[in-house]
Amino acid sequence: MRTLGIETSCDETGIALWDESEGLLAHRLHSQTAIHAAYGGVVPELASRDHIRRTAPLIEQVLADAGCGYADLDGIAATAGPGLLGALLVGLSTGKALAFARDLPFLGVHHLEAHLLAPALEEAPPAFPFVALLVSGGHTLLAEVTGVGHYRLLGQSLDDAAGEAFDKTAKLLGLGYPGGPAVAHAAAGGDPTAFDLPRPMVDKPNLDFSFSGLKTAVLNQSKTGGPAGHSDRFVADLCASFQEAVAETLWRKSARALKETGLERLVVAGGVGANARLREHFAAGAEALGAGLHFPRPAFCTDNGAMVAHAGSLRLAAGERDGWNRSAVARWPLEELRPPKK
Ligand code: KG4
Ligand code: ZN
Repeated sequence: MRTLGIETSCDETGIALWDESEGLLAHRLHSQTAIHAAYGGVVPELASRDHIRRTAPLIEQVLADAGCGYADLDGIAATAGPGLLGALLVGLSTGKALAFARDLPFLGVHHLEAHLLAPALEEAPPAFPFVALLVSGGHTLLAEVTGVGHYRLLGQSLDDAAGEAFDKTAKLLGLGYPGGPAVAHAAAGGDPTAFDLPRPMVDKPNLDFSFSGLKTAVLNQSKTGGPAGHSDRFVADLCASFQEAVAETLWRKSARALKETGLERLVVAGGVGANARLREHFAAGAEALGAGLHFPRPAFCTDNGAMVAHAGSLRLAAGERDGWNRSAVARWPLEELRPPKK
């Protein structure tokens, strides 16, 4: 089964071709960073318009990269939610139109399911069951994953997502957009112990998160920098301290989730999983616990078409299909998903 995957839920147009037996045949990504940078965040209407310009040409490029034509496709999968409605509709409508024209099965994919199954794009994919930590710009949650569509929510952020905290920290320090990579870059060479920032909710006996207080703590510290602005050292130390606080908080809750579920494997997915310091911190923690740790490569932590082609392929191959009336949904809780249905 050869599935074309289309991702347009936010500000990246991602297209990929996944073959059930051969794996990933080709993938391409167009990032809209340059369009949204001037506004300090994603402008939904501009995102939709750029997806319209990019989606069809990118599909042709991916097919050419793989040496395939439309006749070689067995199914089409496009992200149906959660995400920006207008942006989602571009990929979804393109996918449905293509499937209709070629008489192919079509499926709308859950963006977070695609993220948490993304470690299977790599060699030595994790076996079920595992604990998944999903850390993106819109979501931060821990789930027990016992199979495709078997997701039990263990905890989630009560306010900001971890990626949102990176983005807001970058904004208040004037580091630009997107914030995660900007903070990580600024943190290089900084002292992670320079500022005493909170590890929110780590002492609470649950698996929920809260990142808005951490953002406020960074704001308060940034006010101590003086009217002449901040030195490079100050910014590096504050970013390194912030990054450490996020990584440690996420790790402590993930370790607790492993302990409470008795599971031995942890999967980390979503854009914040691309953070190099977080990956180091988790690697050391997992080794000490003797737990298995799986990340997608950094480019497949952030939004991409490969994860959508892969997740869509799993469900299409099991016989699941959507009708032509399938629409996009801005809000779609992960727990509402069920195993593939015929
Ligand atoms: O998964 P993703 O690409 O999109 C969503 O589904 O939200 O995640 C985007 C988030 C943004 O908040 C971005 O700042 C963050 O992931 N991010 C990072 C890094 N790369 C992306 N955060 C920390 N370090 C990074 N290297
Ligand atoms: Zn995402």
